Amino acid sequence: MVSIHPFVLLMVHSLCLTVTTVAHAQFEQRTTVQVANDLAKALSPNATLIVPNDARWSSVVARVNYPRISPGYRLVVEVATEDDVAATVLYANRHNIDFLAIAGAHGESTTLNRLRSGIQINLRKLNFVNLQDDQTVAVGGGTLQWELTSHLYSHSRRAVTGLCECVSVAGPLLGAGHSALQSQYGFSADNLLSANVVLANGTTVLSSSTTNSDLFWAIRGAGHNFGIVTSFNLLTHPIPSTYSLYTLIYTRDKLDALFSLVNDIDSPPETRDPKFFLNAFLSRSAPDADPVFTYCLAYEGTPEDLHIRAKSFLALGPLNTTLTTDITYDKLYQALGFGKDSYSCSKNINQGISGVALQKWNIEGLKKAYKIFLDLTADPRFFDSFLLMENYGIVAVTGVDPSSTALPLEERERPILTSAVVHYEGNEEATRRDAAAYIKKIKEALYERVDKDEWHAYVNYAAGDEEVEEVYGRERWRVEKLRELKWRWDPCNRLRFFAPLV
Ligand SMILES: Cc1cc2nc3c(=O)[nH]c(=O)nc-3n(C[C@H](O)[C@H](O)[C@H](O)COP(=O)(O)OP(=O)(O)OC[C@H]3O[C@@H](n4cnc5c(N)ncnc54)[C@H](O)[C@@H]3O)c2cc1C
Ligand SMILES: *[C@@H]1O[C@H](CO)[C@@H](O)[C@H](O)[C@H]1NC(C)=O
Ligand SMILES: *[C@@H]1O[C@H](CO)[C@@H](O)[C@H](O)[C@H]1NC(C)=O
Ligand SMILES: *[C@@H]1O[C@H](CO)[C@@H](O)[C@H](O)[C@H]1NC(C)=O
Repeated sequence: MVSIHPFVLLMVHSLCLTVTTVAHAQFEQRTTVQVANDLAKALSPNATLIVPNDARWSSVVARVNYPRISPGYRLVVEVATEDDVAATVLYANRHNIDFLAIAGAHGESTTLNRLRSGIQINLRKLNFVNLQDDQTVAVGGGTLQWELTSHLYSHSRRAVTGLCECVSVAGPLLGAGHSALQSQYGFSADNLLSANVVLANGTTVLSSSTTNSDLFWAIRGAGHNFGIVTSFNLLTHPIPSTYSLYTLIYTRDKLDALFSLVNDIDSPPETRDPKFFLNAFLSRSAPDADPVFTYCLAYEGTPEDLHIRAKSFLALGPLNTTLTTDITYDKLYQALGFGKDSYSCSKNINQGISGVALQKWNIEGLKKAYKIFLDLTADPRFFDSFLLMENYGIVAVTGVDPSSTALPLEERERPILTSAVVHYEGNEEATRRDAAAYIKKIKEALYERVDKDEWHAYVNYAAGDEEVEEVYGRERWRVEKLRELKWRWDPCNRLRFFAPLV
């Protein structure tokens, strides 16, 4: 492995510094309106420039998790072509203006708040889905999950995305892409065939297993740090059947039995039927009601297929049992509560998270988390909060060679993805601090008996306060390789606002 000599680092660094200092002096003279005028000349006719006093401003800066997450923009560029992305990046570099790509606007890391007076490169106009042949689909960098899913469904195909319909396809994929299909086909990133990437210096390159393969390695796991993906090719898959879904509600007294059962079906995780997935949350329906666990058990198959796998869950005596059958793939995410009109898609509500990845539930830890959750949701500011408990299965995920992508081993090996999701309104400092304290306490409880140096946060669920190894992996070689590649592909660290490596 090539190690980087400090002198080289210094040279690279001072080069970035020299360029930016000179540029800064020039830039001081350019107002936002001038920047917009300059860019207008460089962009394609269908690109749009939106300045802060424009009537469209509030809609282009609106995001999930606002105002907790509020990247600072001086200008929004709605790019219409790949060249527009490159031209915007080149211009921003020349004038020392920071930039941030936005697709679905669901990013949750507080590091996004480090952007000050930057340019938002809004990718939503790069929104297309072209089926190449039965196996492959070309997807625009700004395409949302539901746009891809519904188009492919009309051709009886599907691709591996995240669950939430209004999240982009690219955002989850660049960090893994956990989903209902992962146990069958691997993570979303495992289904990537190639990507067109605008690099931090404005050069556009193709990356695949044969072209710029080291970049291709890096974007599957740490992609947000390596470029702006304008389009990509994904594998598609057939849709063998409809889904059946049990929604079971359990009270606190079932906690022990329920989570022992969940642990059992994943011992070992490779033995679980890949068509069977679980997704659950703990929430409170009314201020005077105790929080309950809502467990979704889904099977890609008939109700009888599902029933066989759900029997032991039903035997625990849920408070309420709802069976939904014949769910077509295009309606699956709506049925699970992640449809584009669902609460998960509502903008301008804070949702504080801090991802936790577990091998197994620790029942004592979960009991502690439940108590903290009781206090949290007894506070009217946080009543709407929930504890997310995802458990999609990891059969195909562990079938991929872990060294073939940047994805940390922890991502592939831990079947449980969990986090408090703390909802609140407004931007009051005390509320934000209290929310963060609850999130931290719940995180510590969930990690009961897990050493801190084994904690792992899925990059797309990272809070923003984790150390690099907690997010990008504990294997030393992996983080070293990522840092080395970062110096090669983004030596001035222009891409540093989402879960930064450096
Ligand atoms: C309600 C909700 C549900 C979620 N469900 C899932 C899920 O089922 N599975 C899962 O894995 N994750 C899920 N996530 C997490 C999700 O993966 C991240 O929030 C992701 O970063 C969102 O991407 P986005 O494009 O929607 O958001 P944005 O805020 O637009 O993007 C997030 C970051 O990704 C980068 N980015 C986006 N597009 C590109 C691109 N084309 N090229 C380069 N960089 C880009 C940018 O740096 C940006 O800062 C969920 C999040 C929320 C809030
Ligand atoms: C601009 O957008 C319109 C409407 O979507 C489209 O028909 C046209 O081809 C686009 N023009 C260019 C130059 O891309
Ligand atoms: C059970 O859940 C269904 C669907 O959410 C709801 O309509 C019904 O009222 C619930 N029944 C009880 C007894 O809580
Ligand atoms: C941009 O960076 C890439 C990767 O380091 C490099 O190959 C390319 O030549 C650079 N482009 C310019 C214009 O310097």
